Amino acid sequence: MGERLAVVSGGGTGIGAAVARGLAADGFDVLVVGRRVEPLRATAERIRAEVGREDAVGVVTADLTDPEQTAGVVAAVGGRPVDVVVNNAGGYLGGDTTDLTGMAAHWRANLDANVLTAVLLTEALRPALRRPGGRVLLISSIAAQRGGGGAYSAAKAALHGWAYDLAGQLGPEQITVNVVSPGYVADTEFFGDRMTPEGHAKRVAATLVGRAGEPDDIAAAVRYLAGPSAGYVTGQVLGVNGGSVLGR
Ligand SMILES: NC(=O)c1ccc[n+]([C@@H]2O[C@H](COP(=O)([O-])OP(=O)(O)OC[C@H]3O[C@@H](n4cnc5c(N)ncnc54)[C@H](OP(=O)(O)O)[C@@H]3O)[C@@H](O)[C@H]2O)c1
Repeated sequence: MGERLAVVSGGGTGIGAAVARGLAADGFDVLVVGRRVEPLRATAERIRAEVGREDAVGVVTADLTDPEQTAGVVAAVGGRPVDVVVNNAGGYLGGDTTDLTGMAAHWRANLDANVLTAVLLTEALRPALRRPGGRVLLISSIAAQRGGGGAYSAAKAALHGWAYDLAGQLGPEQITVNVVSPGYVADTEFFGDRMTPEGHAKRVAATLVGRAGEPDDIAAAVRYLAGPSAGYVTGQVLGVNGGSVLGR
């Protein structure tokens, strides 16, 4: 068992898996949390082999929109101090919005998936956060800064306002709270079958660097903010978007 522990929601796939791999490489023990056990186990196996530590990654299955299941993460932590919480679980949820009932379900689903998951996990682990030195990270989206995703954009933007309050509450205990806001990142499950070659090309063209983001681009920002050299950075939103949105 290592000295430092990180909890990564949505750590079985995409950006979360890259974050888990990066933090494990930085010496953290990592707990990956998600609803489906298969991707969590596969990612955990791969990372253990890569970093050569059998206890580098543990797996917890939980739907983080559910308070009882979220409490199960606390049980899995087992009383250890938590150095880093990465609230990465989320995604765009569609739905039939042709009537108000469908509209309400669509908005609730997006708020639950992107806001409640982060709030419940962070509040569940708040007493366990390492004092001083804990780190809370929220993965939002470029959609929060420029729109384009309706309820999803609004839900991700809500994380920003909450992060500012949380940073104020936890700052006196030397715990930092920051938001990483990714632009377009290919090679994740986010877009499912919604992505087309034209959609991909349009998003790449909107960057200044002429390429799609990779999960490791986002993981690099998280690793910096989770590390010891970022102790004076709190209450910030770091855009990692290839220049698609400037300086916001
Ligand atoms: N890809 C992009 O272009 C992009 C851009 C901006 C922001 N983001 C954000 O980045 C984060 C990671 O997305 P990604 O691109 O890596 O897509 P992804 O592969 O779909 O990852 C989302 C992860 O969240 C988990 N998850 C979703 N709902 C959950 C719940 N209720 N409880 C527990 N786990 C849950 C999923 O696992 P289970 O289904 O097994 O639960 C999955 O592992 C998301 O918050 C997304 O909104 C992505």
